[in-house]
Amino acid sequence: MALLNYKTEPVGNESLDEWHLLGSGGFGEVYKVRHKDLGFDVAIKILHNGVCPFIPKERALHKEADHMEEASCEFVLRLYALYHGCPPIRETALQQGIVMEYMRRGSVQSLLDDLRGPPPWPLTFRLAHQVALGMNFLHLKKLIHHDLKPSNVLLNDDLHAKIADFGLCRVSTSALNSNRETTGVDGGSYKYMPPEAFETSYKPCRAFDRYSYGILLWSIVTGKEPYPMADYSLVALKIPMGDRPDLEEIDQTKAEGLEEIVKLMKRCWDGTPSARPEFKECGKITENVLSKHSKGTCDAVYQVLKGLESPTSNEHSETFSFPPQRLETSESNDVVDHVRFTATERSSMQDSVNVPAERMSDADKAKFVDDKRTTLIQDVVEVMAVVDELDDMVHSETYSRIEAEKTSQNKMRALYRSTLLSGGEKVKAAFYDALKKHQPHLVERLGG
Ligand SMILES: Nc1ncnc2c1ncn2[C@@H]1O[C@H](COP(=O)(O)OP(=O)(O)OP(=O)(O)O)[C@@H](O)[C@H]1O
Ligand SMILES: [Mg+2]
Repeated sequence: MALLNYKTEPVGNESLDEWHLLGSGGFGEVYKVRHKDLGFDVAIKILHNGVCPFIPKERALHKEADHMEEASCEFVLRLYALYHGCPPIRETALQQGIVMEYMRRGSVQSLLDDLRGPPPWPLTFRLAHQVALGMNFLHLKKLIHHDLKPSNVLLNDDLHAKIADFGLCRVSTSALNSNRETTGVDGGSYKYMPPEAFETSYKPCRAFDRYSYGILLWSIVTGKEPYPMADYSLVALKIPMGDRPDLEEIDQTKAEGLEEIVKLMKRCWDGTPSARPEFKECGKITENVLSKHSKGTCDAVYQVLKGLESPTSNEHSETFSFPPQRLETSESNDVVDHVRFTATERSSMQDSVNVPAERMSDADKAKFVDDKRTTLIQDVVEVMAVVDELDDMVHSETYSRIEAEKTSQNKMRALYRSTLLSGGEKVKAAFYDALKKHQPHLVERLGG
């Protein structure tokens, strides 16, 4: 049950306070907002103007609201109300939006970004299981998601997964937008689209979501983005020809049950829609795998949360390693390798960021860029000015992708993913210097 009667009582600005932009996607901007009457934060998604050329915006929102109301389940994001008003941090006229549960831990996408890789195995398998359960619920309700991907699986305080963004004006969602190339750059939804959906004769069916789930499983298990260098047209060409994410990236001996998960992802991304398993069956497989790791789940969640809580995600406690390392054996009870930093290692780590920039070596600057990644993604606002300074270290295609992102956080994520993570010391040092020039106070605050 929705908390408020969204049909008759849209929430207006008088009940809302403290608007912060969280990010934007194919069809809206999402804000974290304090609901003064409820006394807690909510998330509000405001639709981009003109994003739904086929269905009037208001109808599209009610459609999403109806679907969310219907889909009330532990693993599906909860709707509180519709919003009607002028968002104070947007210069625009009256807007409509959806008021939803605020998920403090962001999405699976942001988790993978923050961890710079996959979560510890027990958490990986729990996410796989909870998504299967949420999707099974939606399909039982005869709802098709059509845009299942890591950024649409949100995480609550304890890293439990809930599915978001289903049912909203599917004719013009990011996955099926008439302007596919542009939207694809924004959200990468096309990488989760099954081969048949690239055909003009495609008719919506549940097998779409089963395929997306297969690709999502691969992303969570590897911590990577599928086909990182491929644009929409290449994916549209290659996927119908049978290309899929690289299974060589997964060493199936690394965790108990991983083999079953790999088999499952392959069945899910089968080229023949009818061969893809229903979510009910997926849920049984993931439940069985998760049961082998149940003793490690709390520890895995604790390790990850502790890392996310630390100011820079890299300021380690005595025993904590962040990102948490995955267990390299198939024993199920141990969760993570605890890399212990010696006092010397820690002090040299700290020294490296406190040396004045002119005396900092490229290695020190690169270390700063690696160590402060989470904070830099949050706090760098002059992203394009910094990217401009990097000049031809950023390929022109990558430049356009970064530029197309709508928020500075997403721009920074794209910059890390495309350039900084794979770049050597020289690139990272150049980034450091450019940041020092454009946001000196931030660098100083972070001890650089
Ligand atoms: N209820 C929520 N609580 C917290 N963060 C949210 C919530 N809904 C969305 N977000 C975050 O806001 C950002 C933008 O979300 P949005 O759904 O607009 O884009 P997307 O998921 O990247 O693409 P798409 O438009 O295909 O869904 C994402 O980073 C997402 O994690
Ligand atoms: Mg989304």
